[in-house]
Amino acid sequence: MSKHVRKAVFPAGGLGTRFLPATKVIPKEMLALVDKPIIQYGVEEAVASGIEHIIIVTGRGKGAMEDHFDISYELDATLERKHKDELLAVSRGVSSMARISYVRQKEPLGLGHAVWCAKDLVGDEPFAVILPDDVIDAETPCLKQMIGVFEERGGSVLATMTIEGPGISAYGVLAGEQDPDNWRIYNCTGMVEKPKFEDAPSKLAIIGRYVLTPRVFELLEKTKPGAIGEIQLTDGIKALVQEEKVFGYTFEGKRYDAGDKFGMLQATVEFALKRADLGPKFREYLKGLGL
Ligand code: G1P
Repeated sequence: MSKHVRKAVFPAGGLGTRFLPATKVIPKEMLALVDKPIIQYGVEEAVASGIEHIIIVTGRGKGAMEDHFDISYELDATLERKHKDELLAVSRGVSSMARISYVRQKEPLGLGHAVWCAKDLVGDEPFAVILPDDVIDAETPCLKQMIGVFEERGGSVLATMTIEGPGISAYGVLAGEQDPDNWRIYNCTGMVEKPKFEDAPSKLAIIGRYVLTPRVFELLEKTKPGAIGEIQLTDGIKALVQEEKVFGYTFEGKRYDAGDKFGMLQATVEFALKRADLGPKFREYLKGLGL
């Protein structure tokens, strides 16, 4: 088995009910954060982390994602004719960003099942998983940091973040111990998906970035529906912990839950403020609101 992480799986088959009615027709992954669909942030992170092949797990009504990463002849020809060179570069940049394959998740059986759907496209090599809802702003891309840990430690790596209070129940939560040599690393002994606050084994929540060994596919195949009646990725990785080393990794950077209305608003404000073309004007506008 090669140790090189070349492929990244993007589960994107979900219905996006948290964003209705916006997501009735538009896939939630295509909602814009400032001027870019949220899935593009994840794809750019993967490419900047050295990923060569992106595998998007889609579902019914998700065709807009495929069109987005494809060449748009009409748009490109029009921009070329009108000499809109900068916009042409933006459009072409999206379609030439990465090699992308698509596989359909025919039934919404859960995140573990969605990842399993990519089994044949991944094959027998370690791979990354990026949950597009989790947008992470970091100096060194989060996935790149994690691939570094994977290469150094030789075990699967899950991105983690400390969550104080009952909010932890919305996540997969790790059990284990902090590594004595590096506080960012956590040696996993178990994990539980969406525990009750009282039952959470720690404050370390799994965030939507994973580097996994392909053994997880075989374990997912045997994983029974768990929390909320779905086949959970967390349960597949919990079985992996019995056989291989699995690490939590507290990444450097800031995570936004762009699948949630409030998280999307936070990300919108902070990303817009950082933009050279929008930031100064937007800052003045916000100040003028006199909140
Ligand atoms: C999923 C995972 C969960 C993880 C979370 C991170 O949950 O199942 O373990 O903590 O993503 O965003 P979801 O947000 O799909 O409910």
